[in-house]
Amino acid sequence: MLDIRSDTVTKPSAAMRQAMAAAEVGDDVLDGDPTVSRLEARVAHMLGKEAGLFFPTGSMANMTGLAVHAALGSEALLDEDAHIIHGEMAGAAALLGVQVRLVRVGEGRTVMNADDLRRAIRAPSKHDPAISVICLENTHNGAGGKVTSVEDMRAMREVAREHEIPVHMDGARLWNASATTGTSLADFGDCADTVMLSFSKGLGCPVGAILVGSAAGMKRAHAVRKRFGGGMRQSGILAAAVLYALDANLDRLPQDHANARLFADAVAGANGASVVPPDSNIVMIDLADGVSSAAVVARAEQGGVRISEWNPTRVRAVAHLDVNAADMARAAEVVRGAIEECAAEAVR
Ligand SMILES: Cc1ncc(COP(=O)(O)O)c(C=O)c1O
Repeated sequence: MLDIRSDTVTKPSAAMRQAMAAAEVGDDVLDGDPTVSRLEARVAHMLGKEAGLFFPTGSMANMTGLAVHAALGSEALLDEDAHIIHGEMAGAAALLGVQVRLVRVGEGRTVMNADDLRRAIRAPSKHDPAISVICLENTHNGAGGKVTSVEDMRAMREVAREHEIPVHMDGARLWNASATTGTSLADFGDCADTVMLSFSKGLGCPVGAILVGSAAGMKRAHAVRKRFGGGMRQSGILAAAVLYALDANLDRLPQDHANARLFADAVAGANGASVVPPDSNIVMIDLADGVSSAAVVARAEQGGVRISEWNPTRVRAVAHLDVNAADMARAAEVVRGAIEECAAEAVR
């Protein structure tokens, strides 16, 4: 079975497990774990930030990032398709008492830009909640791994600055945005006050994410993480996997992007589908009227390929560390066949 539902399905390699087994560890809650501290300093440096904080998940790191900026009863601005809106169990409302407001993305685009943001920011008044944070996502999962250029990120940062609103970046796959554009992580990092990056996706680690930002911000984040139950003990075991992945897996992300393009090109033109051309490792396929995602996913699985149902008319496939070009070519053949069979049945 080829599993390309997500880049989170990868299994730690033998070499990664060896690095984990050999990790020097300590009690991170009591004294700091030496391997975690090394990882936090290394990634903070890569992003041009003062400090970093290791988390078990991206969702917890995103919520903590929002908590650093947003007071109870304030408002967070996010684009309407953001992962924080759709994939994190309404954490901003349930855990932080923060109202999220959706920024409408302009006609013909799938990710937010500075004009969208400008339209969404209202003048302070006695009636409206204060906007405490703007959240940007790069790459954008819901838009099909779409990359926002550093120029567009800077323009949004500028709008935020004009209104003195801090910016949090959901950079779960910022690694991929950097691989696609050649823009350094530090240049992207400069476009936000806090950035979350995930280790359990393209980098192939079993667990983990990081929040980076100012030293003062990360001090506040440390307390929030503890409150969320995210204080971990000998977490150097997990951080060692990430240090290994930064050395071994970061530079190979362009291969995933090439494999995603290969897959997309082979599926494009299938009767009954339109493929969103991938910017990175995610391929979204929009199905024609009457063709259901559930049916296509089930049919592909019968052919030995697992893809995911993104919504009732859109399926998603993701290239990752554990599939090569030949796997993606085979997967494309199966998925194309599944779509065409389902489309033929739909018109019958
Ligand atoms: C863009 C984005 N942000 C945040 C997350 C949350 O990460 P986690 O699953 O580690 O909580 C994901 C996970 O898929 C994601 O795609």
